[in-house]
Amino acid sequence: MSTIYKLENIYKTYPFNDHIVHALENIDLEITEGEVVVILGPSGSGKSTLLNLLSGLDNPTKGKIYYYNDKITHYTDLELCEYRKNHLGFIFQSYHLIPNLTIEENILLGKQLSKNPIDVDEVLKAVDLYNQKNKYPYQLSGGQMQRVAIARSLVKNPEVLFCDEPTGALDEKTGKKVLGLLQNINNKYHTTMIIVTHNPSIAGIANTVIKMNSGKIIEIIKNTEIKSAEDLRWA
Ligand SMILES: Nc1ncnc2c1ncn2[C@@H]1O[C@H](COP(=O)(O)OP(=O)(O)OP(=O)(O)O)[C@@H](O)[C@H]1O
Ligand SMILES: [Mg+2]
Repeated sequence: MSTIYKLENIYKTYPFNDHIVHALENIDLEITEGEVVVILGPSGSGKSTLLNLLSGLDNPTKGKIYYYNDKITHYTDLELCEYRKNHLGFIFQSYHLIPNLTIEENILLGKQLSKNPIDVDEVLKAVDLYNQKNKYPYQLSGGQMQRVAIARSLVKNPEVLFCDEPTGALDEKTGKKVLGLLQNINNKYHTTMIIVTHNPSIAGIANTVIKMNSGKIIEIIKNTEIKSAEDLRWA
């Protein structure tokens, strides 16, 4: 398996009033293609900042990030845009669906920019929403809306799926269903998954767990046994 991301000596600081916030300090990390990575840590520990750097939404203050052999920290804005468009998918805690488009139309939006899309019906079936495709978002439950958001990011067939608190707005049962779906996608399409969460239970589905605190990686755990989402004990 190849290394998909390599981070060397990453720092991210923000000027804030009269001082500097150290959002990330001295981060060295390698992520393998096809892995499920769970990033755990308390609020303010730097999880979203790390996700934003990996996904090219922001630049580090210092250090290098490689996507395969490409140094994305040297990309121009246009190259970053192409990188996100061609290779990445995003899922957030709030689903960002377009209210006046149907489920199917929302998912089709994700397909528009892709060179190598998956068939929409296949994706609708994968998220178990095929028979709901003509509904509008307000006619769905929270878990169903999150599954639409997953389908929308999946339909472009991304190499990497970035998920920031994908189950944060969901109850236990629905959260496990959504994680189960992410596991299935990882198995079927070999999509690298990078999941940020407060919820330590989710670590059970990861190949690699990255624990963060105060802008630093404090531990990296390689799980020998991967749990299926339905067997997780919810915190
Ligand atoms: N634009 C900014 N300006 C100043 N400080 C910032 C900015 N963005 C983030 N920070 C600070 O950087 C640190 C890391 O923030 P980050 O959003 O990465 O945390 P997080 O682990 O994702 O937290 P949460 O679990 O609450 O989402 C925090 O101390 C935050 O206040
Ligand atoms: Mg965050």
